[in-house]
Amino acid sequence: MHIHNISTENSILNQFIAEIRDKTIQKDSMRFRRNIERIGEILGYEISKSLSYKSTSVETPLGTSTTFLPDSEIVLCSILRAGVPLHNGLLNYFDNAENAFISAYRHHKENPETFEIVVEYLACPSLEGKTLILADPMLATGQSMLATFEALKPFGTPKEVHLISVIGAQEGVDFVNKNFDDNTHLWIAAVDKNLNDKGYIIPGLGDAGDLAFGEK
Ligand code: URA
Repeated sequence: MHIHNISTENSILNQFIAEIRDKTIQKDSMRFRRNIERIGEILGYEISKSLSYKSTSVETPLGTSTTFLPDSEIVLCSILRAGVPLHNGLLNYFDNAENAFISAYRHHKENPETFEIVVEYLACPSLEGKTLILADPMLATGQSMLATFEALKPFGTPKEVHLISVIGAQEGVDFVNKNFDDNTHLWIAAVDKNLNDKGYIIPGLGDAGDLAFGEK
């Protein structure tokens, strides 16, 4: 797997990440969602530079211009519900993409040390030969990302796979690195050191789904 940590010290991306982490700013849920969306737009642009393109032309009122368009169909898949603002950001750039949604939540089984991932809802077009972009804003253990990918297998084999996260724990990054093949890229905006015993990223930002869509 190829890991692309796109955080740098000299980019406006840092402001968006700082705002979603900051407990005094993140309470503004509209700003939180918009910041995640803006990060999705930046990640989308970074991914776009790694895709392959085919040459085509467009007619302007004054002549013909040569341009380049993605040479495979793109499917954006997001894990509900926290993935929705990130999905919107990606869709702002890949506006011709097809869309897939999956619900996956973490469930403590008998052993509270382990989380079982339960998949309940799945809507997905064919993935055969397409570029799959799979978005989950918080890459904690990496188990949801893998469970989602496994659940998508009956829909066909993508040409390439791009996993997108806003904040990951090093443990989650290591997990996906071990469990996804060479045809997979991980694009991530920030990597934190730790996970706590409830599976939250430390320092992270808290619960992304609640911040975007939860009760006040
Ligand atoms: N999901 C979240 O929303 N936050 C975390 O820290 C981990 C998973």
